Amino acid sequence: MKIDCKRLTVVTVLIGLFVSFPLLAVESEANNALIERGKYIAIAADCAACHRQAVENGVPFAGGYAIASPMGNIIASNITPSRQFGIGNYTEIQFADAVRRGVAQDGRNLYPAMPYTAYYGISDQDIHALYAYFMQGVKPADIAPTAVTDLGFPFNIRQVMLGWNLLYRKEKQLEKQAGISEQLYRGQYLVEVLGHCSTCHTPRNMMMAEKSSLYLSGSPLGGWYAPNITSDSSGIAGWSQRDLVTYLQTGHLANKAQAAGPMAEAVEKSFRFMTDEDLNAMAAWIKQVPAVSTPVATKSPRSLATDINNVIIGQGNQASLVDISQTDGATLYESACASCHGRQGQGTADNFYPSLTHNSAVSGPGPQNLVMTIVMGIQRKGSDGEVSMPAFGQQMNNEQIASLSNYVRNQFANIDDRLTAENVQMLRNGGELPFIVLYLNWLMGGGAVIVLLILFGLMRLRKR
Ligand code: HEC
Ligand code: HEC
Ligand code: HEC
Repeated sequence: MKIDCKRLTVVTVLIGLFVSFPLLAVESEANNALIERGKYIAIAADCAACHRQAVENGVPFAGGYAIASPMGNIIASNITPSRQFGIGNYTEIQFADAVRRGVAQDGRNLYPAMPYTAYYGISDQDIHALYAYFMQGVKPADIAPTAVTDLGFPFNIRQVMLGWNLLYRKEKQLEKQAGISEQLYRGQYLVEVLGHCSTCHTPRNMMMAEKSSLYLSGSPLGGWYAPNITSDSSGIAGWSQRDLVTYLQTGHLANKAQAAGPMAEAVEKSFRFMTDEDLNAMAAWIKQVPAVSTPVATKSPRSLATDINNVIIGQGNQASLVDISQTDGATLYESACASCHGRQGQGTADNFYPSLTHNSAVSGPGPQNLVMTIVMGIQRKGSDGEVSMPAFGQQMNNEQIASLSNYVRNQFANIDDRLTAENVQMLRNGGELPFIVLYLNWLMGGGAVIVLLILFGLMRLRKR
């Protein structure tokens, strides 16, 4: 029998195509699924919150946004696959090192404004999916950095992070504790690792590292305060698992709390897109975190002289706001707030304009979130729609805001704050400075050396 070589080749190629076509299709389908999974992980980890441009609605992941830290501004990198300005030349291993260990491709130590202290635990599988998403699912943005990170000495020396990392960077992957359910393990992974809740909600020590014994028990955050979210009565003991899910998904919980500031951003960019199953796992984990008791505001009888019922200005009369000598809290409340939140702070029946008498920002341990909400207003998308409250930071001066805040806390929560205009200015500037920065001036007097010595001393202790 004569074999026709040509025909055989044609047939083989045809058979080859026939077999590999569906295989190729399956492969690209699997790759698409991987990219989709990576996208979901990027949402749960909220990479977009920081890696954005400085302008609203800028190019996703193009970077340039300044993250205010007590040491100065730290600029988020371009993490699109641009080869010139982004991470287009990163291998998967280098990507993993940047995300989990805070070490960039060129060996630069990243500042922990990049939350590698939480991302340490991202699984290899999830890193693989994240990498696929950033390389193939994100458009390269050839946009040069619009600003550079410029911290004062000694923080501008990135090697200082070597010592810090030895002390505070976790090296082991997250492990499932014996006896916990799959749901709790998933919840722990989402809360501790991807969601990095503790980077905002856990107080920090002198060296700016999280105090693990006070996990999630509340921390100042710029001018804001990320409250105690453990199940203590000073935290969110009264919240059910369902309540937590509702709050994370929508940004509000009737007669309890509304998310403003950094939390509103986390809801809008991240939590509202997460599955019910994942949100429930997170809530279940939060509910069983050890309760930590923290100071609450002391209640005292109402002390302010003016009663709202004696205020004669019409509701929502903004004219009185123009008068900067008007510093009576009740009058300011009547002019600026009552039209939405009601004269008695009762809000509206449908909670669209929330009550201020049952409100964690008004009754919280300090006035930070109330003051910052008055200054910045609220713009937030949740899974159930959009809410907005006007910002009053331009219209009102610090004295007016202090007096309005004192009135609101006193009238609606029986708290006597006596906040001053200086206190308000300090919050506007980003709150009280932590130890390490406050004492920098003193350290500068020959003391920077001491900091380094302390760091190296601690490193040696740790090594032993
Ligand atoms: C809270 C803010 C924040 C979040 C959230 C965040 N990053 Fe970053 N990231 C930063 C900052 C700031 C830098 C630059 C730090 C520096 O210059 O030391 C950075 C740097 C990086 C780098 C190094 C790039 C380079 O070469 O400069 C990579 C890669 C990166 N981030 C990836 C990610 C990924 C992926 C996610 C989500 C899983 C993420 N980041 C989430 C703030 C953040
Ligand atoms: C970027 C910082 C940041 C991150 C990340 C963050 N939070 Fe928050 N959170 C805040 C701030 C600030 C508030 C106060 C918001 C307000 O009252 O306007 C808050 C408020 C809350 C509240 C309401 C508490 C109350 O008593 O009003 C809950 C619950 C909460 N966060 C849970 C979480 C969980 C769970 C995570 C992680 C999945 C998380 N947060 C991540 C900053 C953050
Ligand atoms: C135009 C209507 C409107 C006006 C005027 C207004 N608010 Fe609001 N306020 C809102 C809305 C809407 C929310 C968020 C509701 C939500 O999240 O569901 C809100 C939320 C709040 C919160 C909760 C914030 C947090 O962080 O938990 C406080 C406190 C508050 N307002 C106080 C005030 C004060 C004080 C004034 C006067 C300076 C004022 N509001 C004026 C509509 C308004």
